[in-house]
Amino acid sequence: MTVKAIQHPLVQHKLGLLRQKDLSSKDFRELASEVSNLLTYEATRDLATETAEIKSWNSSIIKTNKIKGKKITIVPILRAGLGMLDGVLKLIPNAKISVVGLYRDEETLQPVAYFDKVVKDVSDRTALIVDPMLATGGTLIATIDLLKQKGCTNIMGLFLVAAPEGIKAVQEIHPDVDIYTAAIDECLNEKGYILPGLGDAGDKIFGTR
Ligand code: URA
Repeated sequence: MTVKAIQHPLVQHKLGLLRQKDLSSKDFRELASEVSNLLTYEATRDLATETAEIKSWNSSIIKTNKIKGKKITIVPILRAGLGMLDGVLKLIPNAKISVVGLYRDEETLQPVAYFDKVVKDVSDRTALIVDPMLATGGTLIATIDLLKQKGCTNIMGLFLVAAPEGIKAVQEIHPDVDIYTAAIDECLNEKGYILPGLGDAGDKIFGTR
């Protein structure tokens, strides 16, 4: 498993702005989208390319590079993952979108999917899971389980902020999944919030705090 905390100055600058108290939903959304865009750039760095011949502006035939083989499906986890979707789509506009929603069963405390609209050919695609916060890892593990059950073998996750506890939990169960994040923060507090973190990312994106 690769875990990459993206050190790019633009990512770090925008993350610092995202951490500010009393940021408006508009500003939070815009920054979340911009950081998601930059994370996508890093996460797609190693996609395989192949040469293709095209007719160029003066009708000569030239060789160009295009992305090879497996295509991408973006997997936003409801609801906060929707706040990263447009930033990712700006770089991969043709990607198909597979939306997943999970709730925590009060008895078993396990995440259960209440919504799952995954593209039919997910086994032929790279899945790019997006969720602003990788906290305990429970939701991410359940989403990866769901995608693997449907035959997906190539999975990456993009997060604005990740907690060491969540990374460790995912690493133990799904060591094949690569994680890209703007920061690996210090820890989780007793309520499961990441510290220093961003607070409740869903509330900030949707203006429900
Ligand atoms: N979800 C959030 O929105 N924030 C956290 O810190 C942890 C989980």
